[in-house]
Amino acid sequence: MAKVSHATWGGRFAAGPAELMLRFSESVSFDHRLAPFDIAGSKAHAAMLAQVGLITAGERNAIHRGLDDIRAEIEAGRFRWDPKLEDVHMNIEQALTRRVPAAAKLHTARSRNDQIATDMRLFFKHACAELREKLLEAERALLTVAEANRGILIPGYTHLQRAQPVLLAHHLFAWLEMLERDRSRLAEVAQHANWCPLGAGAIAGTTLPIDREFTARALGFVDARGRPQVTQNSMDAVADRDLFMEFAAACAIFGVHLSRIAEDLILWSSAEFRFVELPDAFCTGSSLMPQKKNPDSCELLRGKSARLQGNLHTLLTLAKGLPLTYNRDLQEDKPPVFDSFDQAALCAEVLAGTLGGMRFDADRCAAAVRDPALLATDLADYLVSKGVPFREAHHAVGAVVRLAEQSGVALNRLETAAVREIHPGFGDDWASVFDLERALALRRGTGMPGGKQVGRQFTRWRKVLA
Ligand code: ARG
Repeated sequence: MAKVSHATWGGRFAAGPAELMLRFSESVSFDHRLAPFDIAGSKAHAAMLAQVGLITAGERNAIHRGLDDIRAEIEAGRFRWDPKLEDVHMNIEQALTRRVPAAAKLHTARSRNDQIATDMRLFFKHACAELREKLLEAERALLTVAEANRGILIPGYTHLQRAQPVLLAHHLFAWLEMLERDRSRLAEVAQHANWCPLGAGAIAGTTLPIDREFTARALGFVDARGRPQVTQNSMDAVADRDLFMEFAAACAIFGVHLSRIAEDLILWSSAEFRFVELPDAFCTGSSLMPQKKNPDSCELLRGKSARLQGNLHTLLTLAKGLPLTYNRDLQEDKPPVFDSFDQAALCAEVLAGTLGGMRFDADRCAAAVRDPALLATDLADYLVSKGVPFREAHHAVGAVVRLAEQSGVALNRLETAAVREIHPGFGDDWASVFDLERALALRRGTGMPGGKQVGRQFTRWRKVLA
């Protein structure tokens, strides 16, 4: 049975919400994790209220002490969260009011709408910094692997067909580029989060003489020169969920990268490739087949990417078509964000662990890259260097490849006379093209997989990841 409401908004209500409605609408079961940010926001808000004379210094101090106590209780796991009080904001405010009479003034010139927007912006700044740190660890693990396997060559693949030889480090550095972009995307999200919404109120600010810049400064919403940054439109400040989407998008793109790295590793660790042995600590066996060693960490990294994409999709759909400004639908914005953060953080750690323990099989890699057909393009370039137009050269080399296949002879073992019959541009030195070391050395332009270039990239990454 519904009773008279004691909720903070209970004044205009004759009856409280149904028990079912309470269960349906509570969010404290997941938003309790915003407590540190909520408390920081309330402390800054109280400090501002005292600064402008809306509360006394004594009241501010009492509120600060009360909030510090509550924070300590939450950290110690002694705080009782009450779902009847809906959310993290009301739980903390009511607990504070029970201890500190002045707490009844804390919500002056504030709404839960600008409060949750502030909590989440603080959360995003924290989450981005945390994820960036974990990504950095994974990137460092990757650099270490590249360093330990510096000399190894492998075939690079397009269409999952052997294409051209590359240094393994070049392939690993491609992963590094992806992860480093993910890291910078998260830095951008943190920049976008760096605007303080407090003062927007429920939708239209307040008639009271608050100092928004003071609060922003107290919470670290400042630019590089320490100047406070406050949101510029009170309606947008409480309605906007772009940040949630941007954060989830950064995590989802990271997830796509993870899944592609994982897929490379799954292929490379199969018996068909056997380029790499994955660490036992990140694999599992089969309950039935004793010989099996399954690349589970990689498969789960690939699988989690679906979840990260789903969270982004949830957020896009949630906000689509909502009228301005705040609507209760928006309470559903937090579970997908928290899940993306938790899973992305876990994934970054698992990636670092998996990379850190892998062992490359230099012999298997060498055997795979030995195929002279991988240098067919170099043979075309050879003709080009003799003045043959590339299209004609490509055609001629195609015929050479066909001849090798038909006669069952390796490409580099064909008779020079037979090759010259296909195109007069082939000189006596035509087979010198098939020297792998030479082939790699010639790829010396920026971003190419030759030893000199890759050496430069080693230097660059050591600096970037230091
Ligand atoms: N728990 C709410 C949410 O996350 C806080 C904002 C509530 N605002 C309101 N007007 N009911 O969306």
